[in-house]
This record gives sequence, C-alpha cells and structure tokens, in this order.
Amino acid sequence: MKTLKVGIIGFGTVGTGVYKVLQSFPEIKIQKIAVKNINKKRNIENFNYELLTDNPYEIVNNPDIDVVIEVAGGTDPAFDILTTAIKNKKHIVTANKELLAKKGSELFQCAKENNVIILYEAAVAGGIPIIMPIKTILCANKIHKIAAILNGTTNYILTKMAEKELSYETALKQAQELGYAETDPTGDVEGFDATYKLAVLSTISFGKKIDINKIYREGITKIKANDIKSAKELGYTIKLIALGQVLENGEIDVRVHPMLVAKKHLLAKVKNATNSIMLSGYPVGDLVFTGAGAGSEPTASSVVGDLLVLASDLEVTNNPIPLAICRHDEYAEQINIGDTYNEYYIAITAGNHPGVIGLIGTICGQNNINISTIMQKGINEDNTAEIVVITEKSKESDVQNALKDMLKSESIKNIDNLLRVMN
Ligand code: HSE
Repeated sequence: MKTLKVGIIGFGTVGTGVYKVLQSFPEIKIQKIAVKNINKKRNIENFNYELLTDNPYEIVNNPDIDVVIEVAGGTDPAFDILTTAIKNKKHIVTANKELLAKKGSELFQCAKENNVIILYEAAVAGGIPIIMPIKTILCANKIHKIAAILNGTTNYILTKMAEKELSYETALKQAQELGYAETDPTGDVEGFDATYKLAVLSTISFGKKIDINKIYREGITKIKANDIKSAKELGYTIKLIALGQVLENGEIDVRVHPMLVAKKHLLAKVKNATNSIMLSGYPVGDLVFTGAGAGSEPTASSVVGDLLVLASDLEVTNNPIPLAICRHDEYAEQINIGDTYNEYYIAITAGNHPGVIGLIGTICGQNNINISTIMQKGINEDNTAEIVVITEKSKESDVQNALKDMLKSESIKNIDNLLRVMN
C-alpha cells in the first residue's frame, strides 16, 4: 500500500489527538511535527522527539511530505506557511477557522492554481461531520437556512447560568477552571470563534463568498442573570446562535448573537459544551447535526477523516477530489442587521409611575412594533420597575428607533437588554 507522508504544524490539544489517532493508521506516516518549544516534555508514551522541529518551513519545504496538517491556528504566520506549502504542491488539512474565514478566498485560489486541495472538516464544529456532508451527499440541495450553536465555551457558560442561576462572571470563572474557556476568553465570549465558523459554513452552504466584516456579531458578555430568569419564566432559554439564511430576494442574512430560544426548539436542548447545527434545504428538509464541537479526540476524528479521504483518493488518482475544491467566485449580497426582521426581548427599567406601560406601548406602536407579551416584575426598592417586552416580528431599525424614543422619556431609566427571539 502507498503511504501518505504528512507533517503536522501545531502540537497542542488537537495536534496531540491527531498524533495519537494516527498510530492506528500505518498508511499515514508522520514525517515531522512543528512546535513552538522543542524542549517541552510531551505526555506521550515512546514519543520520538526527533520528529519535532521549531521551524514549520522545514515541513512545508520538505519534498518528502505530501500533506500538511495545520492545527496551530491564527492567521499570521499560518497564511504564509500554508501558501508556501500549497506552492510546493502539498495538500492541506486544517482546523484553522480564523484563517479560512479571513483568507479562505486567497488560499483556495492558490490551491486551485497549484492543483492541490484544502480539507477543513475540523474547522467548523470539531468532531461533527458537516463540511463533507454539505459538499458531497447534500450537493443536490439548495440550502436556505443554518441555525447553529457553534461555540462550546459560551454554551457551557449559558447552560450553567441557567441551571445554577450563576452570574456571567461566576460561570466564566468556572469554565476557565475546567479548561473550557481560555485565560483571555474574548475569542469565544465575544462571538469571534462562532463568526469564523459561520463564515466558513455559510460560504459552502449558500455557494457564495461571505465577507466576515459584514457579519453582525454580538457576544454573551451583556447577558445578565435577570435575563436568563425572565427568559425562563417566558418559556425560553438563552443561547449564542449563529444564523445564516437566504432571503426571498436572494440576499443573505448572516449573524452571530445571543437569542432567546423557545424551550421546545431542538437548539434549546443542546447543553454544556455541545455544538449543534440545524440546516434546512430543498429537497432534504430539516437536518440536525449534534456532537462535540471541540476537544482533542473529536477534533482528531475530523482531521484524520479528511486525511483518509485524501489518502484513498490519492491512491487511485493523483488528481484532487473534485467536490472538495472551493469554486465560489461571487460575493454574497449580505444585509445589514438594521434590515433584518426578528421577534425581540426588551428588558427595561422604568420609573414606577402610572402610564409607563402605556407609554412603552405607544412608542412601540409609533415605530410599527406589535407587542406580544409585556411583563412587569414587581417594584424595586428605588421605586423603579423592571418591565420585559416580547414583540412580534419587527424590523431591527424600527426597534432601535423605539429604544431611542423610550430613552427620551424621563420615565424610562434604562434599556437593560435587547435580545432577539427564536421560536
Ligand atoms: N473555543 C471553541 C469552543 C472550540 O469553545 O467551542 C474551538 O473552536
């Protein structure tokens, strides 16, 4: 049997998982592993330290390597390293969502020119197979909607806030202690990680290039224990949702933000660090893919899966797998958040005066907003009242105008939160 010779760039959680899983596949031979620190002790039995280098260019310029596995992350120097590999005719397997979301277009063009392929099953939802199904068996479909939980850290934090009634800060601290959240959690909690994954997923689902800078993004740092409590009372749970949909006029609405998700919705049942992707298309209808979105072994499952697809294909032919080439040349027409339509949750602190609920109703009405639920939660010690409004489907710009109008009134002390709702 022909062997596939690979070099691994990055030897952290995912790289180590890939190394371990590859021990069961003698047809794939690891030639070199690029690490930051070659002197660091590795917790792997009988590990051959001679495999290590601290120069990734030793891998991408090595004529004896067929495939480069990149599991280091970031765009710099990953972009230069991978373009060098591609120009040296090496196929790429990567888990690097940020690089694909920001520089995918250039990388795929370079790969096309050099007749090599880039596989990236691990980049979107760790161990969940989603890229290959969309590119292969679902290719008869027109996919028109994705609604997904693509970040385990935030889902873990929101689950703990709901189940244990913790504040955001306490839940984050626990997530950090358990190793779910990083010391600097910004990438996860501000929604960057989910945005990169959604950009990659939307590009292949909708067949158009997605401009990451036009994806509306909001993280979970503004979610308060009170929001979780009110959501629960109204029959919802709060989740960080990655949403992509093709509108009737062909425009594309892509965004990442927290949402109140109705308890009966399948995504409301996805707890802790689990990821889940709901995809709707014609003719297949609705599909749900759920599983581990991160972690050493689940992510290695996707990386090694890509490698084996490549290995099997290269044995038969030296041509790349046609379905795995990215061919989207056109950019999508992405709409602004102000032009989207949603149901909304508005949390308001108001003075405890007669007519305040009437005032809120009047301002909503003046801005074309139909209220479906309004709830006042008692009176605070400072004679203010917490009022929660759920609206029917309304235009985001109308809602933003209504909030501005409310704040002009002395009676409305604060808009505590504005969240979108998914039923
Ligand atoms: N940090 C990610 C998460 C996993 O929390 O889901 C890697 O993308």
